Amino acid sequence: LAKVQESSDLATMHYVRQGDPRGLGHAVLCAAPHVGHEPFAVLLGDDLIDPRDPLLQRMIEVQEQHGGSVIALMEVAPEQIHLYGCAAVEATAEGDVVRISGLVEKPDPADAPSNYAIIGRYVLDPHVFDILRKTEPGRGGEIQLTDALQQLADDERAGGPVHGVVFQGRRYDTGDRGDYLRAIVRLACEREDLGPDFRTWLRSYVAEEMQQS
Ligand code: G1P
Repeated sequence: LAKVQESSDLATMHYVRQGDPRGLGHAVLCAAPHVGHEPFAVLLGDDLIDPRDPLLQRMIEVQEQHGGSVIALMEVAPEQIHLYGCAAVEATAEGDVVRISGLVEKPDPADAPSNYAIIGRYVLDPHVFDILRKTEPGRGGEIQLTDALQQLADDERAGGPVHGVVFQGRRYDTGDRGDYLRAIVRLACEREDLGPDFRTWLRSYVAEEMQQS
């Protein structure tokens, strides 16, 4: 019971229902009345970041230092970039921080400006709401957060600059079915309570599979 109650004592929770699947940008805009005029964080629930490799804390530090907005980036294989928002970047004095000069949502690999993919953590300046209100549907007919961020990066007066923190830690994209399964197996193996039994079972299962193939 204490474990169940712990999560509701962590913070005051408010829920907003998007209603129509009009895109990530529209979903973020639905939260505008709750956020008000302060910088805020967006965490996409299907992107799991291993808490042993802190990311959001670093992004908040970078936001406090530079102002504007901060997105999380990860280098991916060129053939994977069409699954993500993609950033054109310029190096800064800090090794893990880049300045964003352009953004494009799910580009064809031939048109991608880099192999830096946007992953599901954002620390955003509230000016993004003004931009989202005017953002037309983009890729897939959806209102794209990436398109609004491109405008922030383009025009600093509108709440820019936009920086990226390059993440090199453990991440599981549970929006991908294969990754979802891999995340469950890996995290189950690492658990102190379930892990030992689960590993024993997994070893014998894999051995059986190898014999059959
Ligand atoms: C969303 C964003 C995309 C980002 C991705 C990260 O896409 O639109 O820019 O790279 O999350 O997971 P979705 O996965 O919702 O299609």
